[in-house]
Amino acid sequence: MYKIVKVEKLADKIYLMDIKAKRIAKSCEPGQFVIVKMDERGERIPLTICDYDRKEETITIVFQALGYSTNRMTVLKEKDAFMDVTGPLGCPSDFVHEDLEELKKKKILFVAGGVGAAPVYPQVKWFHQHGIDTDVIVGAKTKELVILEKEMEEVAGNLYITTDDGSYGSKGMVTEVIKSLIEEKGYQYNKCVAIGPMIMMKFVSLLTKEYNLPTIVSLNPIMVDGTGMCGACRVTVGEKIKFACVDGPEFDGHLVNFDEAMKRQQMYKKEEGQKLLKDKEGDTKECRGVCGGEK
Ligand code: NAD
Ligand code: FES
Repeated sequence: MYKIVKVEKLADKIYLMDIKAKRIAKSCEPGQFVIVKMDERGERIPLTICDYDRKEETITIVFQALGYSTNRMTVLKEKDAFMDVTGPLGCPSDFVHEDLEELKKKKILFVAGGVGAAPVYPQVKWFHQHGIDTDVIVGAKTKELVILEKEMEEVAGNLYITTDDGSYGSKGMVTEVIKSLIEEKGYQYNKCVAIGPMIMMKFVSLLTKEYNLPTIVSLNPIMVDGTGMCGACRVTVGEKIKFACVDGPEFDGHLVNFDEAMKRQQMYKKEEGQKLLKDKEGDTKECRGVCGGEK
């Protein structure tokens, strides 16, 4: 069992939890995710690791209560426990393996949309801990839905907040801020990392392509096993078939087929759609043995 040591409601339907998970906390890196399971009946829910404390042996997850399973998770309190937490899954962000001196010469722009602030945070924090300032844009629908602002402020070089309705920060979507930083302020970036809803990542990638700005996105398609076997998280990247759980979750945003990924996501929600996909794509995939499960 994986004990919950802290629960915090960050905004309407958005919750943060610290979970005791010794082995995951010891080895996880920014960019990776876990799959949590509440109990025997529980669905397996993939969630990006939002933070980790190697000393306290905890990991932090942030989730939005959108469907049946995530709504069930909202009743969990401190001292309750998850039956299963599997991870760390997926590949760490590329920069973790890059030469630090080379990385220090680069200017990185992070773009976080809504709940996407949670997976962006450990990356920005990693840069901060390695003495590198980054620019961070956080976009949300309204002021009430801006999450982790204080935490982000502590680790970001420059933080730009924008809301769709203008109730906080500037008014408009994240793409407006990117335009203003690059076109009006003349800032130059070597890389953009955009994480948020699929539609946001699509439009950020379309925009950064115009600027020739390499862009990494983190895909969160529906996942089932998280080990490359079930095929649920299949995406097309640069005409190649990839599985977000083992090949990602981070990919080159300029190569991702977002329209297909969004269509697939919708289809997978219905049994009928799942059957259609199974007929088209086949049954299971070959396990690549990289799941790194906690158990
Ligand atoms: P949201 O719909 O409130 O959007 C957040 C921000 O993204 C907006 O404020 C806006 O600035 C930007 N945005 C949205 N649509 C855009 C567009 N068409 N063009 C440019 N910018 C746009 O976000 P939310 O409600 O927090 O999103 C929830 C979704 O995000 C869920 O589907 C969830 O699965 C997904 N999500 C993805 C990740 C990931 O790792 N990729 C992480 C957390 C949540
Ligand atoms: Fe990726 Fe099953 S969740 S292949």
